[in-house]
Amino acid sequence: MSDLQRTLVLVKPDGVRRGLSGEVLRRIEAKGYRPVAARLRTADEALLAEHYAEHAGKPFVGPLITFMASGPVLALVVEGYRVIEGVRALAGATDPTTAAPGSIRGDLAADTGAAVIENIIHASDSPESAAREIALWFADLDS
Ligand code: RTP
Ligand code: MG
Repeated sequence: MSDLQRTLVLVKPDGVRRGLSGEVLRRIEAKGYRPVAARLRTADEALLAEHYAEHAGKPFVGPLITFMASGPVLALVVEGYRVIEGVRALAGATDPTTAAPGSIRGDLAADTGAAVIENIIHASDSPESAAREIALWFADLDS
């Protein structure tokens, strides 16, 4: 039996700018998952450095944080059975050029030539990441 889980989803600034927040949420809801919290905000660099702590020191982390702070993101907490792996499957592979058609990244994103990969969506990759990221973005959320 699988457990009811929660995951953190971010519609990244490229997705919000391109008017794709609704499309991303539509796909998540159509799959059968339930949003339990939502917040549109422009993240500061301190929050993003925490969020991407696992990537500290990698060459793309500076451009990544600059990109992620470049405009509002739609932060969502999404609930469902096996929702962590389920939303990762909906998102598709990191590189939008090779992400499978049918996935969010495969259908809605392409290489922009930017210094960092712009790929519409972030989704937590494990129960530990989900708990850490939900606490970071929704410190005030009742559990
Ligand atoms: P995410 O964390 O955003 O859900 O994506 P992910 O797990 O598929 O990818 P991850 O390896 O965690 O990388 C985080 C985000 O950093 C950007 N990235 N750019 N070489 C590059 O230019 C590069 N590598 C990673 C992407 O925006 C990626 O989603
Ligand atoms: Mg990741």
